[in-house]
Amino acid sequence: MAIQFSDEMDYENRLVTPDYTEKEDAVVENSLRPRTFDGYIGQEKVKENLKVYIDAAKGRGESIDHILLYGPPGLGKTTLAGIIANELGVNFRVTSGPAIEKQGDLVAILTNLNDGDILFIDEIHRLSKTVEEILYPALEDNAIDIIIGKGPSARSIRLELPKFTLIGATTRAGQLSAPLRDRFGVIFRLELYSPDELSTIVKRSAVVLDIAIDDAGAHEIAVRSRGTPRIANRFLKRARDFADVLGDGVITKEIADLCLAKMEVDSLGLDNIDRMLLRVMIENFNGGPVGIEAIAAAIGEETITIEDIYEPYLMQVGFLARTPRGRIVTHLGYKHLGAEQEEPQQKIKNLQQEIDDSQQTIDDF
Ligand code: ADE
Repeated sequence: MAIQFSDEMDYENRLVTPDYTEKEDAVVENSLRPRTFDGYIGQEKVKENLKVYIDAAKGRGESIDHILLYGPPGLGKTTLAGIIANELGVNFRVTSGPAIEKQGDLVAILTNLNDGDILFIDEIHRLSKTVEEILYPALEDNAIDIIIGKGPSARSIRLELPKFTLIGATTRAGQLSAPLRDRFGVIFRLELYSPDELSTIVKRSAVVLDIAIDDAGAHEIAVRSRGTPRIANRFLKRARDFADVLGDGVITKEIADLCLAKMEVDSLGLDNIDRMLLRVMIENFNGGPVGIEAIAAAIGEETITIEDIYEPYLMQVGFLARTPRGRIVTHLGYKHLGAEQEEPQQKIKNLQQEIDDSQQTIDDF
C-alpha cells in the first residue's frame, strides 16, 4: 500500500529542521555566536583561506573581496560573516534577500554604509531581479545609477558609494543568477560538521549557557544532530530540561538518549519525516531510482525542501544516493530501517510486471 504523510508530521513543526526559528533559536544563537576564528569550530579549509584573505586585505589597507557562503541551513554562515567583520574590525550590517523588497530599500542600505563595512545579505538567492540590478554596479564600481524625476525631465545620476564588502549567504548557489555569482571574488561551501566537531560545539555552548554535560552526553547529542550546530544547540536546551526534571541536572548519555528518544529522533538523528521519506521510496518506488518530483508528490513536500533539508543529511549518512536516473535508497538505508532489500532478480521481475501491467492498461484503453 502506498504510504501517505499524516498532518502532524509537517515540516514546519519539525524539531530537527535546520531552519532558523525566531522562538527557538533567536536568544540562544545570539549568545552562542563565537566572535573570533578561535571560537569557531570546524570548516577548517574555509577558515584557513579566510584568514589569509583577511590578513592580506588588512596589510594592504583595502577592503576584502565580496564573499559568497553557501551550504545547508544552520551551519553558521551568519556567524562566520560576523567573525569576518570582527576580525577586520569593521561594522557588520545584516539584512536578507526577502527583506529588501524595492530598489529604494537597497539604495537606503547602501548609502548608509561606511568605508570598509560588511553588508551581509542572508538568503541572497531571494533578491528580486530589479533589486539585483542595483547591486551589480554597486559591487563592481562602488556606485549606483538612480533616475531622478519623471518623463522628459527624468535624468540619471551616479551616486558614489563607500568601499563596502558584500557577504552573501545562500542554501542554493545554483539559484543565483550568473551575473550575481560572477561578482563574488570568493566562494565558499560550508560542509556538515563531523560528530567530533559537533561534540566540541555542544560543550562550548554548554559552558556559555551554564549547562552541566559530560563527554558522553555531548557525544550523544552530537551524533544525532544531523551535522548541524543549530540542531545540536536546540537539543542541548531540551536535554537540559530532562536533566533538571528527571536527572540530577547533568546531561549524561542516558539523559540525552531519553530526551532524543522522546522526541522520536533515532540513533543517527533521523526523525519521523526522514524515515517516512525512505520508507516511501522503498515501499512505493521499490527503493528507486525515483525522480525527486515523484518523491515530493508522494510525501507532500516541495522538491526544494527535500533537496535542501532532507537529502544532504540522508546522503551524508549514506542512506540515500543520487544517480543519473534518480534517487535510490542504499543498502545502508534499508538496513537502518530494518527493511528487506529485494534481490536484483526479484527487482527485475517486479519491474517487468509493472511494465506488463502498464501495457495491459494501454491495450484496455
Ligand atoms: N555555532 C554555529 N556554528 C558554530 C561553529 N562552527 N563553532 C562554534 N559555534 C558555532
